[in-house]
Amino acid sequence: MIDVVTELAALRGLVSGWKQAGQRVALVPTMGNLHAGHFSLIELARRHADRVVASVFVNPTQFGPNEDFNRYPRTPEADSAGLADAGCDAMWLPSVKTMYPYGVHATVRVSVPGVTETLEGAHRPGHFDGVATVVARLFNQVQANVAVFGRKDYQQLAVIRYMVRDLAFPIEIVAAETRREADGLAMSSRNQYLSAEERPVASEISRTLQWMREAVRSGTARAEVEAQAARRLGSAGFEVDYAVVRDRDLGIPSEGPGAKVALIAARLGRTRLIDNLEFET
Ligand code: PAF
Repeated sequence: MIDVVTELAALRGLVSGWKQAGQRVALVPTMGNLHAGHFSLIELARRHADRVVASVFVNPTQFGPNEDFNRYPRTPEADSAGLADAGCDAMWLPSVKTMYPYGVHATVRVSVPGVTETLEGAHRPGHFDGVATVVARLFNQVQANVAVFGRKDYQQLAVIRYMVRDLAFPIEIVAAETRREADGLAMSSRNQYLSAEERPVASEISRTLQWMREAVRSGTARAEVEAQAARRLGSAGFEVDYAVVRDRDLGIPSEGPGAKVALIAARLGRTRLIDNLEFET
């Protein structure tokens, strides 16, 4: 049994009741169209809290003018059924009006500097402001003790951590491992845009990430690894936004041993996919 909550007052009542009973509350923010990757976030959330709220909101402020806001799949009935099966206690399903009472153009915006200026931030101007803006609202609305975010959106996780620290949100952030299909493709709601011909090609992203890790480990210069990765993806049919190796703070890594992350964003037909692989050298 899951509570599907659409009014802020009802959400507040539910969560404060749990908290008064001494229960710890987790939030899993999503844009809906949930798949096994999301349900694994719910399972992880359950390990960190007594009660789990999943928010389902396709956030207009994080989509650019030519992005897929209108065609982003909206499946609230299937989402609530899946969340109930995954053991989620409540689905927070706000309207755009509830989320942005003054309208999306007159909203108070949260803008995170630095980490938003590269990679996804450079290719999707304004995207992370939209993410930070909605996540700050979700934190205030739900008042959870802990929130779970997937590592697939590596840079988003860094943006959220920065915002939480800088604005002193009283919430713990937990990072969840990326769930993958059998051929390595990272699970994403956008995978369903892929045609039958594109789908097997899409897993070339995860193979390229693994190739990048091995190339860096075997001493190939970073710039050469990045250039070869982009060529490899290009030959497979991708239009590459970036294929890079960074340090864990998304800066240029120093040569030699250390914690690194390889990140790719690339378009296959009309579908833009992102993925990353953290590794040590
Ligand atoms: O990762 C997502 O699905 C979204 O960016 C989030 C965190 C739910 C904010 O809209």
